[in-house]
Order: sequence, then C-alpha cells, then structure tokens
Amino acid sequence: MEIRATDTPRLDWTGDALAVGLFEDAVDLSGDLAQLDEKLAGTLKELIEETEFKGGAGSSAVTRVGSGSSIRKIILVGLGKPDALSLDSLRRAAAAIARSAKQQKSKTLGISLPVANDNPSDTAQAITEGIILALHQDNRFKSEPEDKGAKLEQVDLLGLGGQEAAITKAQAISTGVILARELVAAPANAVTPISMAQTAEAIASEHGLALEILEREDCEKLGMGAFLGVAQASDLPPKFIHLTYKPDGTPKRKIAIVGKGLTFDSGGLNIKGAGSGIETMKMDMGGAAATLGAAKAIGQIKPDVEVHFVSAVTENMISGNAMHPGDVLTASNGKTIEVNNTDAEGRLTLADALVFTEKLGVDAIVDLATLTGACIIALGNDIGGLWTADETLASQLKTASEAAGEKFWQMPMEEKYFEGLKSSIADMKNTGPRPGGSITAALFLKQFVKETPWAHLDIAGPVWADKDEGCNPAGATGYPVRTLVNWVMSDA
Ligand code: BES
Ligand code: MN
Ligand code: ZN
Repeated sequence: MEIRATDTPRLDWTGDALAVGLFEDAVDLSGDLAQLDEKLAGTLKELIEETEFKGGAGSSAVTRVGSGSSIRKIILVGLGKPDALSLDSLRRAAAAIARSAKQQKSKTLGISLPVANDNPSDTAQAITEGIILALHQDNRFKSEPEDKGAKLEQVDLLGLGGQEAAITKAQAISTGVILARELVAAPANAVTPISMAQTAEAIASEHGLALEILEREDCEKLGMGAFLGVAQASDLPPKFIHLTYKPDGTPKRKIAIVGKGLTFDSGGLNIKGAGSGIETMKMDMGGAAATLGAAKAIGQIKPDVEVHFVSAVTENMISGNAMHPGDVLTASNGKTIEVNNTDAEGRLTLADALVFTEKLGVDAIVDLATLTGACIIALGNDIGGLWTADETLASQLKTASEAAGEKFWQMPMEEKYFEGLKSSIADMKNTGPRPGGSITAALFLKQFVKETPWAHLDIAGPVWADKDEGCNPAGATGYPVRTLVNWVMSDA
C-alpha cells in the first residue's frame, strides 16, 4: 500500500473512495463541500440526512455515488467537537476510514481531514499510523487468510502535500508496532527465548544496531541469580538481550528501555489456577516485544540519541528443578530475595536487567512490563500505570504518551508500602499483600536502580484488547511502542 501526500483539492480528487472528516454539529454543507455535494448530485446531503450523521467522534457513514461520477464511494467520519481535535482523534478517524474503505473493497482512497495542533507533519504521521495499524491483520496461524479480496493499494492524504518525511516516520513506527503485536500474539510454542534472540538479531542486521546476547553462563558470571532462578525450570535456554542503537556523531543523550520478557508465565510452583487466564500468558513478554518494536522503529528513524534495548528473556515453568516457594535468590547487585511467590517472577527478571542497564551509564531508564494483575484492577484494560520519582521523566513520558494515543496514569511511589516486602530471612520478599500490589511491585524494582532517573510502566492491561478499538484491531496492541519512540525523540 502506497501512502502519498498531495495538495489536490478534495473537489478534484478522483478514485474509488473519498473520505471526509466532519466536526460534530457542523454537518451543514458549505464552501467546497457544498460544491462537492452539487458535483455528486446531492448524495452527500442525502447521506447525512438518511443516516442522521451528526459528526460525533467515532461515527461514520458510507454510500455509493451514482455511476458516471469521478469517485465511487463517499465515506464520512465524525471528528467530535473542534476544540477537542487531537492527534489521537485524527489517528482514530483515519483508522475508521481505512476499515470502511477495506470493507468497501476500495483500491484507491483519498482522505481529507483537518490539521491538528497547527502541525501538518504530526497530523500526517498520526493519520498514516491510523491507516496502517488499523489494516494490519495477522494471518500467520491460519491455514487460509481471512481477508481475501481487493486490497487498498493507494491512499492520498489531501491537503498534506510535502509531508513525505512524516509519512516515512509513521511507516517506520508502524513496523515497530506491528512487530510488537506479532510477538505478543504468537503463542509460546512459536515465540520462545531463542526466537526472541533471533528477532533481535534480525533487527540488528537489518537496521545496523549492535547486539549482545548473554547466555546462561554469562548471566551466571554476572551473578544474575534472580533472573536465573526464574529460568531454571524451563527446558529452553534463557537469553539476555542487549541491543544498542548509536547515532553517527555525538549523541544528545543516552537512554535505555528495559522490557519484561516472559515468553510464558505458568506461575511456577505457585501455578496459575483455573480462571487465572494462564492460557493468555504468552503475552507476558509484552514489555520485551515493545522494546524490540521500538528498536526496529528507532533503527529506521535514526535520531541523535543513543538507545539501549534490554530484555532478560525466559519462561516461568515448573519441573523438578523449579524454584521452591521460599527459596532465597541473590541478584546481581548482591541483594537477597525471599521468593514467597514464584508467580511474581517478572520483577525477579527485571531486577537483574535493571542492575545490568544502570551499569551502562545512561541518563535515564524506562522499564515496561506486564507486571501485575493489580494494575489492571486499578486502571482497567485501557490505561497503563506509570511510576517514577523523577518528575522530568514523568512529564516527558506523559507528553510522549498523549501524542501517541497510548494512555498512562501516574501512580504513587508510596515508600511506606515497602514494609509489605520485609522478609525475616532475606533483604526483601518478592511479594507483598494484595492491596496496592502494583505499587509494591514498583517499589521492589526500585531496589535495583541506584541513582539513574528511572520510570516503570505496568502495561499488563493495555498490551491486549478484547475488541477493535481505535487503530488497534482486537488482540495484541503493540502498546506502548509509539510512546517509547516519542520519548526517545523528545528533546531533553
Ligand atoms: N504476568 C503476571 C501479571 C499479569 C496478570 C499480566 C494478568 C497480565 C494479566 C505476573 O507475573 C503475575 O503473575 N503477577 C501476580 C503477582 C502476585 C503473585 C503478587 C499477579 O498479578 O497476580
Ligand atoms: Mn507471574
Ligand atoms: Zn508474569
């Protein structure tokens, strides 16, 4: 599918489907839309009246245009109130348009949407992301593809002539989001620690990143007892992945992204029971998936920032060699951990990943993890949790996530709750009481970062969607690759 930027007026555009965005309660046709309506023999006005189209956000209407016209279909999409127009409302409108055009089997599509934030470049980027991400369909595990038939071949972004660079950037970001989705959606018998390392290798060679893979013995030498404790019951070898993107010339800053990479989480001997969603635990590498997705995007965009992408990848399994509940592990910073629950494994793997990452001497670290069910209870499925003691980092991430259309809510780093992790035998337990479970998880991670500005993102909810929403088809969302890319690119 080719996406082009053009200044062709919507009145003159010709092709299969023309999509026009209309603001709420502003659907009376004036100016060039009145002309367009006239050209289409009143079809536009009729469509608005017959479908009672009001322009509400998320609404859409489509109809055929009488034969002999220069366009075959007209798609209307509601934009909501003009003062609420945002990059994300454009991304969503573009997604709705793309889905409609696909359903209509249109091959060529013209999109006429307003510019948000007086910024045509960000606008073109958001629209392009909306189109590509809404149309992505994963047929890898079907014997026959479900979306046979005509495919969208060409999309023209009207009024955005000259925005080719923004389109290219959006395409790069979308390859990262789609990679993350496909890694998360793939079952645990397809995506394993070994295949994750191979994916990292492919990114490194395609986009010129440096790659270091630490095998079990390398991790042993570094004293990564917490990560290896989790890995010890799996028949698959753990892989500690470290990708580095270095710009030509001196980087403006050096940062790191660390992702939880459990290709399957059975819970270990504290095995997940019936109704626990154990069959969904292939998605427990969502943090690592987004980390690799961000690496793929950054490797193409090539910003002036050095970025390290780190993930300690393994499965959490059971066997005669499994951690016992109650075992004491020693992490690579020397701290000892009483594993009072083997199902709180993500924080154990992240502990060693964070210690490793801090030694790289970066200016800031962001970790992302499908860490706790408690975060889903707190914030629901659409919003991730954000913890940091660094307000600069907090505001960078909030700005990045807002433009990305990926929601986060800042949660408290309530030091007092660390009391819940007090252990009588070791420096700390890995699990506290049920109340505030996502907060104690963040406080646990904090023990493994000494002085580098650091933020923790709990993405247990939004990494997966049960139904189509915005530019995400149901299933793996690729969350929060777009936020991470924006954060890397943000000037700080
Ligand atoms: N991977 C899970 C968290 C999770 C739960 C992600 C549901 C997505 C959906 C994590 O390893 C886990 O099992 N956490 C436990 C922690 C508890 C034992 C303290 C949880 O949230 O129940
Ligand atoms: Mn678990
Ligand atoms: Zn887990």
